[in-house]
Amino acid sequence: MTPAEQSLKAAEICRLAPVVPVLVLDDLAHAKPLAQALVAGGLPALEVTLRTACALDAIRAMSEVPGGVVGAGTLLTPTDVKAAKAAGAKFGVSPGATQRLLDACAEYDLPLLPGAATASEVMALLEMGYTVQKFFPAEQAGGAAYLKSIGSPIPQVKFCPTGGISLKIAPDYLALKNILCVGGSWVAPKDAMLRGDWAAITTLAAEACALR
Ligand code: 3PG
Repeated sequence: MTPAEQSLKAAEICRLAPVVPVLVLDDLAHAKPLAQALVAGGLPALEVTLRTACALDAIRAMSEVPGGVVGAGTLLTPTDVKAAKAAGAKFGVSPGATQRLLDACAEYDLPLLPGAATASEVMALLEMGYTVQKFFPAEQAGGAAYLKSIGSPIPQVKFCPTGGISLKIAPDYLALKNILCVGGSWVAPKDAMLRGDWAAITTLAAEACALR
């Protein structure tokens, strides 16, 4: 899959809803009800971070939930890409981009949202054909004002900013022309998952869905 093809698919996924939940799952038993709760609230694209032991099995379990589009986040190495694809991930997300990671996504046909945080990083990815990128870490790197400035000279790149974004500040990003959606973990708080309070998570998802 070429970078341009990957970005086309990534754009399609990013346009499904204003927010892509960034999920850190410690318990495999949470995977299915969590995905059901988020999809029910109107957030179909789900990013499961490969940071916990059960993440790949969680991708498998969540992929069975009707209406969900499950991807893998925190892709750092070619091995992560191969494992994510084997688990059924429909897309990948990385905090950054290395040539080895990009080569693996091409080889395994995994549409990637590669991470960038500076104009030069954005330009390097654009040169390769990536017109849809993750802006990370969004708040810490300069926030919505920074992204707006990047959009003046480089309007052809669209972003999914992630990192430090909340329901309150998400509208600042979503108002920009070069934003397709935002990513955030706030829609799946750990305490709600531990309580099994899936209704609360559906409410958070519905609030996030109503941002646009
Ligand atoms: C991450 O990869 O951790 C994401 O950027 C999520 O960030 P958040 O927890 O600040 O929403």
